[in-house]
Amino acid sequence: MAKEKSVYICNHCGYQSSSYLGKCPECESWGSFEQVAISNNSTQKKTTKTNSKSQPIPIHQVIYKQENRIDTFDKELNRVLGGGLVLGSVVLIGGEPGIGKSTLLLQTALSLNSSSVLYVSGEESPEQIKLRQVRMNINSEKCLLLSENNVENIIETAQNINPSLLIVDSIQTLTSLEAESFAGSITQIRICADKLIDYAKSCRVPIILVGHITKDGSLAGPKILEHMVDTVLQFEGDKNYGYRILRSIKNRFGSTNEIGIYEMTSFGLKAVENPSQILMTQRDENLSGISTCATMEGRRSLLIETQALVSPSYYSSPQRVSNGFDIRRLNMLLAVLEKKAGVKVSNKDVFLNIAGGIKVSDPAIDISVVASILSSHQDVYIDKHSCFAAEVGLSGEIRPVPYIDRRIKEAENMGFKKIYLSKYNKDVLETNVRIKPVYLANISDLINNIMV
Ligand code: TYD
Ligand code: MG
Repeated sequence: MAKEKSVYICNHCGYQSSSYLGKCPECESWGSFEQVAISNNSTQKKTTKTNSKSQPIPIHQVIYKQENRIDTFDKELNRVLGGGLVLGSVVLIGGEPGIGKSTLLLQTALSLNSSSVLYVSGEESPEQIKLRQVRMNINSEKCLLLSENNVENIIETAQNINPSLLIVDSIQTLTSLEAESFAGSITQIRICADKLIDYAKSCRVPIILVGHITKDGSLAGPKILEHMVDTVLQFEGDKNYGYRILRSIKNRFGSTNEIGIYEMTSFGLKAVENPSQILMTQRDENLSGISTCATMEGRRSLLIETQALVSPSYYSSPQRVSNGFDIRRLNMLLAVLEKKAGVKVSNKDVFLNIAGGIKVSDPAIDISVVASILSSHQDVYIDKHSCFAAEVGLSGEIRPVPYIDRRIKEAENMGFKKIYLSKYNKDVLETNVRIKPVYLANISDLINNIMV
């Protein structure tokens, strides 16, 4: 009889070792190794798979069929998925606890009224889910609830019902009879995901899986889970604010440039039709420390306010606090301001806030951050009809950013009269714009233009 082999796999990053390790050399987590048996079945499966030899096909002879998609009746979700749910595809949606994953999926399940949806929850009882449905006030006779943890039972039930969509909340609560380890372990997640994917592909039923995330924000479980599924979505936002962003991280059937924006209301999640309007604070007077950036989130342009407060520091090392913007980038911009424009901020506390609890990674917000800091530092307001879109380089140069036409269109729609850009964006700008562009070469140019 062949000897059964086993390997040790890190629960956090999937690193493999032939012996037990206390600390993972890859992700440096402690006590995360789990023994996983390599069963003879899987080796046999692999051998048969490699034995069936496939022939190369010239690309022009490959017949391409447009994927059949299901309309989720949620414009934002449809957009992020690339036009709806593809039959037989598996979507993984991750996000912090309490962000609204179950709300979004129950809403989707209830909206698909034309055909049956199987909503499996390993975390909540049907009564708890019912409470959420009552809160949302969406009635559906086609949504079936199943409180079950065993993946074999789930697939058997799904095969009997043949739903148009299967939702599993969450993959970490599932167990399979084939593995002995506890729910949420690397072996269980892999086996359960593998079985669900097999079912989705063979029965052409789309599946949406909920995945928990770890403290550092990545999806919990083996990284391989993200490789196995077709689409990975991230649901994010600040829990203290109502806004949520649904972002596509991986999509085999669409672009990863799309985002969906929702507002969490007392009746569930509502799609935000005009995000710029909501993200701008209503203010009649001009206030110092505030500026507006024409950012791009995915392929959509949003006008977002940056707010800064610069005040004398009473500590030996001044405080730097940033919400929604990378703190290291803030430190870099402060260093550039000090070195290249002689603005003394090293003895000042700097607080930065992106309005609405939104996290912005578009470099075009750099100039707006700098403008807010300058405005608060000198206590000079920036005209509320002006906005900004440019990156700031380490030498204090104002660098161009892409999609200027889209940014300008949104700024014009929102009633802005002036936009500050890099001088290198001059050539790409269309001539028939209503807004007045102001071109800047470096930070000193910016100071001369706004600190008047
Ligand atoms: P939930 O969907 O349970 O989050 P997750 O599945 O990501 O853990 O959402 C939890 C939060 O959403 C909870 O704090 C209450 C809030 N919520 C509303 O504000 N309005 C609603 O209509 C619903 C259903 C939830
Ligand atoms: Mg939940």
